[in-house]
Amino acid sequence: MKVPSLKIGSIEIKVPLLQGGMGVKVSLSSLAAAVSNEGCMGTISSIGLGDVEKSKTGYEVESRENFIREIRTAREMTKGPIAVNVMGVLSNSDDLVLTAAREKVDCIAYGAGIPFNLPLLVKDYPVNLMPIISSDRLASIILKNWDRKANRVPDAFILEGPKAGGHLGFSPEQLENIDENSLELILPKILETVKPFEDKYGRKIPVIVAGGIFSGADIAAMLRLGASGVQMASRFVCTHECGVSENFKQAYIKATEDDIVIIKSPVGMPGRAIKNDFLRALETEVRKPIKCDFRCLTACQAQDAQYCIALALVKSYIGDVDNGLLFCGASTHRIKEIVSVKELVAELVRDIEAA
Ligand SMILES: Cc1cc2nc3c(=O)[nH]c(=O)nc-3n(C[C@H](O)[C@H](O)[C@H](O)COP(=O)(O)O)c2cc1C
Repeated sequence: MKVPSLKIGSIEIKVPLLQGGMGVKVSLSSLAAAVSNEGCMGTISSIGLGDVEKSKTGYEVESRENFIREIRTAREMTKGPIAVNVMGVLSNSDDLVLTAAREKVDCIAYGAGIPFNLPLLVKDYPVNLMPIISSDRLASIILKNWDRKANRVPDAFILEGPKAGGHLGFSPEQLENIDENSLELILPKILETVKPFEDKYGRKIPVIVAGGIFSGADIAAMLRLGASGVQMASRFVCTHECGVSENFKQAYIKATEDDIVIIKSPVGMPGRAIKNDFLRALETEVRKPIKCDFRCLTACQAQDAQYCIALALVKSYIGDVDNGLLFCGASTHRIKEIVSVKELVAELVRDIEAA
C-alpha cells in the first residue's frame, strides 16, 4: 500500500500517524518533536505538569508555565506540526486550551469530556481541533452542537477504541466484550455520521483511530476500512526519546498479556494498566483517606479515592514502578525492545508499504 498523507485542517503530514498524548509527563517535547521530525505528528500532554502537593494557585500557574516551556522546546526541536492533549475533566482545562492556542500549537486533541465550549473558546486562534471520541453517538452530539453554536466542524476526530491505554470511554461491561465494541465496528458508523457534515461544509473530516494498533499491517488494515490515519501511544513509550524512567520502559517490555488489566480509576472511569504490586495491594489494603489541596481533576472523588492518581502516575514516571500506576495499551505485551522514534516510524512505514 502506498502511504497516504494526512490532512488535518490547515496542516498536512507525510505519514498518517499521530503519537497520542500521554499524561503526567509521559509525552513531552522530546518525544513529540522526534515524532514530528519523522513526518508524523507528536503530541505534548498538558496533564499533570504542576505539583499536586502545592497550593491551588501554585498548581495551575506551574502547570501553565511548564506547558509553555514544553511547547516552546518542541518548537526549537522540530519544524513539523505539534499537537497538544487536554482533558475536559481537568479543573484547569480552559486555561490549558487557551495557553496552547496562544502558543500557536497546530492541533488540540481534547478528550475525557464533551468539548461543547471548545470552538468558542479558541475562536480568535487558527488552531485545529480534534475531539477524542469513542462512539458515533458522541460524534453526532459534537457535530450538531458545533454546527449550531459555532458554525464549524472538527478538523478531525480521534476515535479511541476499547484497546487503548489510560482512561477509556467505555463501561466495564463494554470492556468485557471488546469484540462487540471494536474499532472495526465503530469506525463505519462514525464515517456515516460525519458524511452529511462533510457535505454541508464542503470539507473532509478525517477520522483517526487509536487503541491497540501495533504494526504497519494494523495501520494498513485501518486505512483500508476508511480511517484517514491512526494514533499510537504505547509503542512510543519504548523509545529512547520518551522521557519516562528506564524502569517504566522495562515494565512494558516485561509485561505479559495476562499482566494487562482493566482498573477503576479514582476519576470514576475505567482504565487499562499493568498489574503490579501497587494494584495488587489495592485489592486487599484498606487505605487512609487522601488529603488533596488541589482538585486537579474535577471528577476525582478525593474523599472516597483509595489513592491520588496524579501521585501514583508520577511514581511510575520517576521509576518507582512497583508502587506507582502504569497505564498501557492492550498490545503492550508485544513490545520487545527500546528503539529510536526514527527506527519505529521506519519499521511502520516499511510494513504499511508491504501490506
Ligand atoms: C501511558 C499512557 C498515558 C495516556 N494518557 C492519556 C492522556 O492523558 N490523555 C488522553 O487523551 N489519552 C491518553 N492515553 C491514550 C493514548 O493517547 C492513545 O490514544 C492510546 O493509548 C492508543 O492506544 P495504544 O497505546 O494501544 O497505541 C494514554 C495512553 C498511555 C499508554
